[in-house]
Amino acid sequence: MLILGIESSCDETAAAVVRDGRIVMSNMIASQHDLHAEYGGVVPEIASRAHVERVLPVVRKALAEAGVSLREIEGIAVGHRPGLIGSLLVGVAAAKGLAWSLGVPLVGVDHVQAHLYSGLLGEESAEQEVFPALGLVVSGGHTAMFRCDDALRVTRLGSTIDDAIGEAYDKVAVLLNLGHPGGPRVDALAQRGDERAYDFPKSRLSPDSLDFSFSGLKTAVLYAVRGFPERDGSWPGKDRKPTETEQANIAASFQRAAVGAVVMKLERALLRLRAEGGSARSLIVGGGVSANSRLRADLGRFAEDYGLRLIVPRLEYCMDNAAMIAGLGWRRLTAGERDDLTLAAEPTTVL
Ligand code: KG4
Ligand code: ZN
Repeated sequence: MLILGIESSCDETAAAVVRDGRIVMSNMIASQHDLHAEYGGVVPEIASRAHVERVLPVVRKALAEAGVSLREIEGIAVGHRPGLIGSLLVGVAAAKGLAWSLGVPLVGVDHVQAHLYSGLLGEESAEQEVFPALGLVVSGGHTAMFRCDDALRVTRLGSTIDDAIGEAYDKVAVLLNLGHPGGPRVDALAQRGDERAYDFPKSRLSPDSLDFSFSGLKTAVLYAVRGFPERDGSWPGKDRKPTETEQANIAASFQRAAVGAVVMKLERALLRLRAEGGSARSLIVGGGVSANSRLRADLGRFAEDYGLRLIVPRLEYCMDNAAMIAGLGWRRLTAGERDDLTLAAEPTTVL
């Protein structure tokens, strides 16, 4: 079954053709990073306008790359939540128009749940070998853990109470003058730094909390770079720029704290799950930050220690993409689920 997936929840306009939920025939992404770079973050109105210009050309490219015509498409999947509402509306409208004109089923897909599916793309294992699983989504907009009974039945165990981990990476990159998006740059720079140079806080929250918090860590990095403000309100180091050694050491120390917090919460979640009689065969991970080299290495060790199979996406499926949307869309369709033309774009997830 050939599914066309469309993704437009944030600043990437993406389309992909996926066969039977696993075989990625094309995966096109038109990134808008150049449009948002000067603002140090995504500007919603600019993003929606760019999606309008790009969505149909990206769909055409995805079809051409896959070597299939629109007539061969058997279903349209679209990321309809969560995200920037103006951005989501563009993808949802395009998907509805295509599904209606081709007379094929339409399915809306939750973007966060699709990140959890992205590790299955290109994988041959049957679902029974993967689930039940502990799930982790780490991206620019989300940081959350899930109990996954299968690809469709996902229950949230905990999530961030403030910043997402990717957002913390991006803000630290701005403080270190590395530009936007900063996650990959902090990751690269951290390889050259001393991770023990700074003792940044690893947020635990309460002893049994499965939630995350990254805003305190971000503030600690701010003070490490610029020093503390004085009692009288002045801030002598306000415009201070870090030296090259400081940049690398801060990047490495920040990364140790951020990744350490994630692994600590995963351990808590797994022990809680097992104590309650539940089980997990694997740890499935998704989202832009799952491309992080330190996180991948540490999760590898964690999974080995606890006898879990680790399922991380290939690098091209870590960040926002439409292949994961088409993949999970196929899974919904084959389970007999579908949506009609009343499908709404929604800013929040229901997970
Ligand atoms: O999943 P994604 O493309 O978009 C959201 O759904 O948010 O994730 C983007 C985030 C950005 O914050 C980016 O800086 C981060 O993923 N990211 C990384 C790395 N590659 C991307 N963070 C840390 N290390 C990386 N190698
Ligand atoms: Zn995402």
